[in-house]
Amino acid sequence: MKQKILKVLEGTDGFVSGEQLSRMLGVSRTAVWKNINALREEGYKIASVTNRGYRLTEKPDLLDAEKIARGLGTSLIGKKIEVMKIVDSTNDEVKRRARNGEPSGLVIAAEKQTGGKGRLGRAWSSDSGGIYFTVLLRPELPPGDIAAITLAAGYGVCLAVREYTGLDARIKWPNDIIVGNKKLCGILTEMSAQSDRIDCVLIGIGINVNHEEFPEDIRHKATSLRLELGRRIDRNEFFTCVLKNLDTAAAEFLAGFTPEESGRFADLCATVGRQVSTTNGGITLEGTAVGITPGGELEVQDENGQIHLINSGEVVVQGIY
Ligand code: BTN
Repeated sequence: MKQKILKVLEGTDGFVSGEQLSRMLGVSRTAVWKNINALREEGYKIASVTNRGYRLTEKPDLLDAEKIARGLGTSLIGKKIEVMKIVDSTNDEVKRRARNGEPSGLVIAAEKQTGGKGRLGRAWSSDSGGIYFTVLLRPELPPGDIAAITLAAGYGVCLAVREYTGLDARIKWPNDIIVGNKKLCGILTEMSAQSDRIDCVLIGIGINVNHEEFPEDIRHKATSLRLELGRRIDRNEFFTCVLKNLDTAAAEFLAGFTPEESGRFADLCATVGRQVSTTNGGITLEGTAVGITPGGELEVQDENGQIHLINSGEVVVQGIY
């Protein structure tokens, strides 16, 4: 009934009275009123004026799997797309599906995560307006390639942001996308593997899209596309663009990044050329980030000119949050 009422409201320019709706759809006016309220709860803005009736003034900005898949044309990512209203964590949901044999290419997105996970055991706040999703891949690769897979994913998201918005998005090694020194996107990659080969990889991506503000504790270091552009963006359209770019990046990565692609990657990496401080297993190293290896490690030159390869842990970059 909700959908039928919505269809009438969408097809009407002005107001439709409760009586008209109840006659058209063969239900009581109380049923109409209850369904109008249910639509309002889903985020539809419906004006009601005495003696005139109801008018749809704004539709909710909801992710829609069909819209996202329209014109996608990807080969690896998005063979199946699902949008959930609420889930603990899209990574955990995909992990459960993977255990049940789900094939490569699945994408699960959620409007809300109750237990969104960030790197290094942190929580990822998943307020409405973002795009939170996880991609399941089953590449025939050794487990050591996981870091490079995350980098390839970050590269794909970075290119999508640049293509869709024109913003100067950059990669903060290993897995953040930043705009103007503030974080726009984070990536959490998890995997299940045998000693010599990956069984499955979960690439969990959270992008701040239509957020108008952030909680006090992260306000100084987080940004959203809306805050940067000064306007809302169509999350479905943008999501399609992200999946397309991820697909291209994944295909290029699996075929082996060409020197040209690696160069483009390094150009987009905000970390290279800056002073960094990295901590891993309680050991801190200070130096200058001078490059990224083909395997995705960060090359850090210490004060003696010695190059260290960093492949995980925490990296603080001078000048970036
Ligand atoms: C980080 O920057 O620390 C990584 C954040 C990753 C967040 C995304 S949101 C979708 C997916 N599900 C999760 O629980 N985490 C990732």
